[in-house]
Amino acid sequence: TTPIYLDCDTGVDDAIALGLLLASAEVDLVGIGGVHGNVSAAQGVENTLRLLSLAGRDDIPVAVGENQPLYGDFGGGVPHIHGSNGLGGIVLPATAATPVEEDAADMLLRLSHEYAGALEVIAVGPLTNLGTALQRDPSVAGRISSVTLMGGAALDPGNITAVAEANIANDAEAALAVVSAPWPVTIVPLDATMTNVFEDSDRQKLLAAEAMFVRSLGQILDPYFDYYMGEFGRRCSALHDPLAAAIAIGAIAPGNAPRVPVTVDTSDGPGRGQTICDLRGQRMGPTDKEEATVRVVLDAQDQLGPVLIDHLLS
Ligand code: BDR
Ligand code: CA
Repeated sequence: TTPIYLDCDTGVDDAIALGLLLASAEVDLVGIGGVHGNVSAAQGVENTLRLLSLAGRDDIPVAVGENQPLYGDFGGGVPHIHGSNGLGGIVLPATAATPVEEDAADMLLRLSHEYAGALEVIAVGPLTNLGTALQRDPSVAGRISSVTLMGGAALDPGNITAVAEANIANDAEAALAVVSAPWPVTIVPLDATMTNVFEDSDRQKLLAAEAMFVRSLGQILDPYFDYYMGEFGRRCSALHDPLAAAIAIGAIAPGNAPRVPVTVDTSDGPGRGQTICDLRGQRMGPTDKEEATVRVVLDAQDQLGPVLIDHLLS
């Protein structure tokens, strides 16, 4: 099995990414850190703990992480997308489980020693915990085998501003630190996640599942589907974070995914939060740039629905 540290701002699609990882036999989820984003870090961690309890996985340690970006303040979340509590307003059963004492950045640093060279990081929220870990100990980059993150927009428009995607916009400085550090990064931007949707027929399958955990995932998707009605014109949704998780664990194959120089706009202008991917010279097919450490997944096998159903219902 592969040791994985998951960093998330547990809203609706984060919850489903967690479900996918829990259902994957080859994954050993050795720690989960919570970060500000869809909700506050504390609310996201509470959501994670309740989901883990429902899934019977209280054994996985969960750490509270940063509640504000490296520079600036928590943006207040997105209740119109993820509901008041981040889980579509669905109240999951309370749990006696509590977060561990160390914070998320320290958890990541500790795990990077415990699983040196083997630990994979999947980050599906703003990158403040990873940025904080890099600030505390830059050598962490050399002990991580890969970082896969959901974030950014390469050629597509953003979803928070014309050019910026939420996870990057919510901490542009941390995102810049993460794509600049000497670890292999794969970014799964909106280009891939907005073209790989989860259909209502698949949600109905979750709702009919035997396990309450899986039925709850179907329930929390309901208001999320309402939100995405405005984007797709039918009841379905993008599931950004599960796609990134599926690519990280090899359950979905990336399509066009060149390794290219990537930077993040941290200026105060209209470009703030943009992921600037140097895609010049790609017209004749994906071409890796020797010196680049960031792979940009521009599209992926359109398999998210079947892959999720397969994992969650087996
Ligand atoms: C990303 O932002 C969050 O709202 C989602 O959970 C996802 O990680 C999509 O832009
Ligand atoms: Ca997220």
